[in-house]
Order: sequence, then structure tokens, then C-alpha cells
Amino acid sequence: MITVAVTGALGRMGSLIIENIGDAPDMELVAAFDIMGVGMPAGNADVLVADARKIDTLLASTSPDVLIDFTTPGAAVGNVRAAVGCGAAIVLGTTGLEQYQEEIAGIIAGSVPAVIAPNFSVGVNVFWKLLIEAAAYLGDWDIEVIEAHHRHKKDAPSGTALHAADVISKALGGKELVYGRKGLAPRGEEIGIHAIRGGDIIGDHLVLFAGDGERIEIKHQAHSRQAFTGGAIKAARWVMDAPVGVHGMEEVLGL
Ligand SMILES: NC(=O)c1ccc[n+]([C@@H]2O[C@H](COP(=O)([O-])OP(=O)(O)OC[C@H]3O[C@@H](n4cnc5c(N)ncnc54)[C@H](O)[C@@H]3O)[C@@H](O)[C@H]2O)c1
Repeated sequence: MITVAVTGALGRMGSLIIENIGDAPDMELVAAFDIMGVGMPAGNADVLVADARKIDTLLASTSPDVLIDFTTPGAAVGNVRAAVGCGAAIVLGTTGLEQYQEEIAGIIAGSVPAVIAPNFSVGVNVFWKLLIEAAAYLGDWDIEVIEAHHRHKKDAPSGTALHAADVISKALGGKELVYGRKGLAPRGEEIGIHAIRGGDIIGDHLVLFAGDGERIEIKHQAHSRQAFTGGAIKAARWVMDAPVGVHGMEEVLGL
């Protein structure tokens, strides 16, 4: 049995992760943390939401095999430190981590295995592969990344869009990234990135390769958050046997 702790337990992602753990015959939720709803039941589990501000002591008392974190960038750093402190493997899905990336990698290095991914869906990981392939043929076309998410999403552009731009840029030997355009903004050789926020859109990503007289659009749409949580559960199983250090979802999926 894999014992799991979840941080961000009452969030959109955390609550669905807890539901998924309840449905998994090989997993058991042993701790759930949030900064709100402390003392409430965590989903249908026999576990109450614990105060995330006391995670250092409370996590050690349940000593889970793995911690799954979908919270906020500032919170994720402390949660990763607490997991490392009690030897738990880590599945980290929180996005907007750019400024904390080095710190987190430093905390994890030489301590525990971790999977960190801006998107845990199988489809998005294949989408990134397709972008590399398309860029190899269409590097001289204009390339734009357009993403749309629900009105509550805090970071922009999405981690998935940034990773899409990054894999294309690397495939093309390095490109300038331009975030939106306003006023006089003639197009150069850049990759343009655009973020749309509204309603309850779960997550759409489209990459446009535009040439003269034709274009190709490669698009991924998430229909439900299960696309992400299913992948995070896979990652939690995989990380149990993984070597110490940071891994990506492409390794989990064998892509
Ligand atoms: N990697 C992926 O596949 C993927 C998919 C979807 C969302 N996300 C990311 O996951 C994160 C959470 O998304 P969401 O839609 O569930 O957000 P949400 O706002 O619904 O949930 C976040 C939860 O974290 C809690 N929280 C805040 N600080 C905390 C702390 N210190 N310790 C524990 N809990 C804390 C909040 O109270 C809230 O319940 C975001 O960064 C989002 O971009 C990643």
C-alpha cells in the first residue's frame, strides 16, 4: 500500500486527487493539509484536513511514502521541504514556480525522488513531443502559443504554455519570447505567447505555425481535471521506485 499525503486538500486539484486515492486499491490517504477548512473531513476519507502551517511536525507523525502538492508557488517550497524532512517522495504539480525552481531543486537534490511537471496529462505530454517534431520542419514559420484557462487561475501564461514555448525554442536553437502585443509591435522571429482567462475553461493550449498561404494548428483541450489528476496518480506510483532527484512526466510515461 502506498501511503499518501496531499497538500492543497480542499482545492480544485487536491480534492479530486483525494477522490482518486480513494478509488485506488493500492493507495491510502494518511494526511491532508490546507490553510482553510482545518478539521473538516478530506473528501470521503477518514482523514481530517490538518493545518498546513504546522506541516513540518504533522507530516513527520504520519510519515507518508509520497506527498502530492497542488497549492501555490510560495506554499510549495515549504511543503517540499517538509516532505524531504520526513523522507517522502514528491509529486509536485503547482505551477508558476519559475522563481523557486532552483531553490526547490536544491532542497530535493540528493534526498528523495520527485516528479515535477507543469502538466500531468498524457495528452499534453504527447502535445509537447508533437511541437518538437513540427518545429523541426516549420522553424521558419511564425509561431504563436495561445492558452485559455478559467477565471480563477492565478499565474499567466500557464506553465504548460511556457513549456510549449521552451521546447520549441530549444528545438530551434533559442528564440525570443514575446508575451502579448500592444501598440506598435512588428513581428520578428519571436515566439508569441498569449493568455486568455474566463469562465470555467479547464485548460486549452494551441500552437499556431503560420506560413505564407497556409497554417498548422496543434491543439490540446482538457475536458476535465481528471486529465491531470490521473497523471499525478500514475506519477505517485512511478516515483516510489525512481532514483533520487527531479524527474519529468515524460519519464513517467516513457515518452
Ligand atoms: N501540473 C498540472 O497538471 C496542473 C493541473 C491543474 C492545475 N495545476 C496547478 O495546481 C495548483 C493548484 O490549482 P487549483 O486549481 O487546485 O487551485 P485552488 O486554488 O483550487 O487550490 C489550491 C489549494 O491550496 C491551498 N493552499 C494554499 N496555501 C497552502 C499551503 N501552504 N499548504 C497547503 N495548502 C495550501 C488553498 O487553500 C487551496 O485549497 C495551481 O498552481 C495550478 O496552476 C497544475
